Amino acid sequence: MLIPRSINPDNIPSHVAIIMDGNGRWAQAKGENRLFGHSNGVESVRETIKCARELEVSYLTLYAFSTENWSRPKEEIDGLMQLLVASIHSELALLMENNVRLATIGNLSLLPEDCRISLDEAVQKTAKNKDITLILALNYSSRDELMRAFNRMATDVLNGKLIPGKIGQKDLEKELDTASFPDPELLIRTSGEHRVSNFLLWQLAYAEMHFTNVYWPEFRRQHFMDAIIDFQSRERRFGKISEQVR
Ligand code: IPE
Ligand code: IPE
Ligand code: MG
Repeated sequence: MLIPRSINPDNIPSHVAIIMDGNGRWAQAKGENRLFGHSNGVESVRETIKCARELEVSYLTLYAFSTENWSRPKEEIDGLMQLLVASIHSELALLMENNVRLATIGNLSLLPEDCRISLDEAVQKTAKNKDITLILALNYSSRDELMRAFNRMATDVLNGKLIPGKIGQKDLEKELDTASFPDPELLIRTSGEHRVSNFLLWQLAYAEMHFTNVYWPEFRRQHFMDAIIDFQSRERRFGKISEQVR
């Protein structure tokens, strides 16, 4: 499909991160249970990957399950984990067809075994795909990621591999789950919530933020394109003054 004329193909964010929010409220508004909302969110994921790939976005990170989400009712957590396994199986062929590489961030060791196995398989199978990297944030929170990184760095201090007082930003970035990915340039959050909810706190330092009231299961091509148009309307100054970046 053609890129809309309102989008400048020379200014596409290389990494887009999305907080997919509002599944529960969308379902409840329809008199359905929350899991109905999560299941319907899969179509939005499909469509978003397709649009991102069309625009030649290189990395797409989707916040799928936070460390805080374990506090939800057990039934919802179990349903989400089952949906994850089912979706990996049902979508794998499409990921291959579209040359999508799957990657993850977050502490996967705490996910149910069948989830970990399915994820591992899909990550390995898609490892050589080159068009776009789809990064699923699973059992992820930024503070958890940072604490895991700090603990490994503390060990490196003991081993003499890091020297206190000489630790730089790159030393930390190497230890983050996102070590092999660039920082997101655009963050999208759906459902009208205007917060970061413990997502990529370090990596979003200079991201542009786009908020939309649309609930995730209703998120479609037009909404993704609107976010890109919004991104392109921003002047990214990185601390400088306007005249310096024009
Ligand atoms: C986002 O939708 C999906 C996950 C957090 C897993 P929610 O489930 O948070 O939906 P709302 O915010 O309650 O409507
Ligand atoms: C953030 O959404 C986490 C995911 C989208 C997976 P939440 O719905 O869990 O966040 P809060 O509770 O509204 O901050
Ligand atoms: Mg929510």
